[in-house]
Amino acid sequence: MRRIAVIPGDGIGIEVTREAVRALETVSRLSGFDLRLDSLPYGADHFLRTGETLPAGAMDRLRDYDAILLGALGDPRIPDMKHAADILLGLRFGLDLYVNYRPIRLLDERLCPLKGRTASEVDFVVFRENTEGLYVGMGGIFKKGTADEIAVQEDVNTRKGVERIVRYAFEFAKSRGKSRVVMSDKSNVLTYGHDLWQRVFRAVAAEFHDIEARHLYVDALTMQMIKDPSQFQVIVTCNMFGDIITDLGAQLQGGLGMAASANLHPGQVSLFEPVHGSAPKYAGKDIANPFGAILTAALLLEHLSRDEEALRVERAVMACVRTGQTARELGGSLGTRAVGDAVCREIERPTSF
Ligand code: IPM
Ligand code: MN
Repeated sequence: MRRIAVIPGDGIGIEVTREAVRALETVSRLSGFDLRLDSLPYGADHFLRTGETLPAGAMDRLRDYDAILLGALGDPRIPDMKHAADILLGLRFGLDLYVNYRPIRLLDERLCPLKGRTASEVDFVVFRENTEGLYVGMGGIFKKGTADEIAVQEDVNTRKGVERIVRYAFEFAKSRGKSRVVMSDKSNVLTYGHDLWQRVFRAVAAEFHDIEARHLYVDALTMQMIKDPSQFQVIVTCNMFGDIITDLGAQLQGGLGMAASANLHPGQVSLFEPVHGSAPKYAGKDIANPFGAILTAALLLEHLSRDEEALRVERAVMACVRTGQTARELGGSLGTRAVGDAVCREIERPTSF
């Protein structure tokens, strides 16, 4: 039996997670995969009611699960996003989930905003460092609110931290039969932090003779992602640049509503969350596109070595896109729930076995 902690969170996170859970239940029932899903209430409501974001001991309890499925966090009643930062960044840091794995995969060429790109031309993965960089929250403000105010935000790069994500990217490439890895930084300007990235990248690349190691400054990378996405197989980059380029990548696959993501630490509990946020504007209206969350559930299955089930879920989403069983965001006319129904029907269809 495998145990999954489900944290639907806030806004549309609640609605899309419901559909991801149904897809998980459907596929596991069909294949006899014993999955237990425990729903946990952490999010804005829980915070406003109790004052706690992630209660004491929650992190340890979460470590005992096989995986965590998270919807989205963010609520206009908490403008400083304290609970979101505590929970999402808290889990990334607390569980040391150093790999942020974000596949950029176009499921149907009609979803791509670029002219004339086929699905096979947009198919790469981004490995975003997930525990360091500008996200560590080190720094401070001096003389706040005065004309002499100074704000400092530190960019933390450790040799260990850089090496483990770069190595993960190469190992992934090797294990999936990929031949190219791009490391992207801004070492022409960030001459200390990203000099470290340069040196570590060269050292690790030297261990992988069969894999072409290429470097692109991040500004050039964004240009190349639009100009010719087919050149990319594996991209590895720091936390902040990874955040930015994966939103760009999400658009290449049809928008944030299509983008799946995993926060991993090999051998330990990992966290799965779609790239999109809680979109309060669309919350509770049954209009959100659940595909990103459902594809995230497929990543979770893959992580649990249930490749066949993962493939079935992914194929079901693909079939829905192909046949126009989609939410409004993708030009369809279905609500969130109805899209989830359609995905479950496709999972159950004998042809997708
Ligand atoms: C993401 C999000 C988060 C991030 C926010 C919500 C803190 O944008 O997962 O990409 O910046 O990492
Ligand atoms: Mn982001």
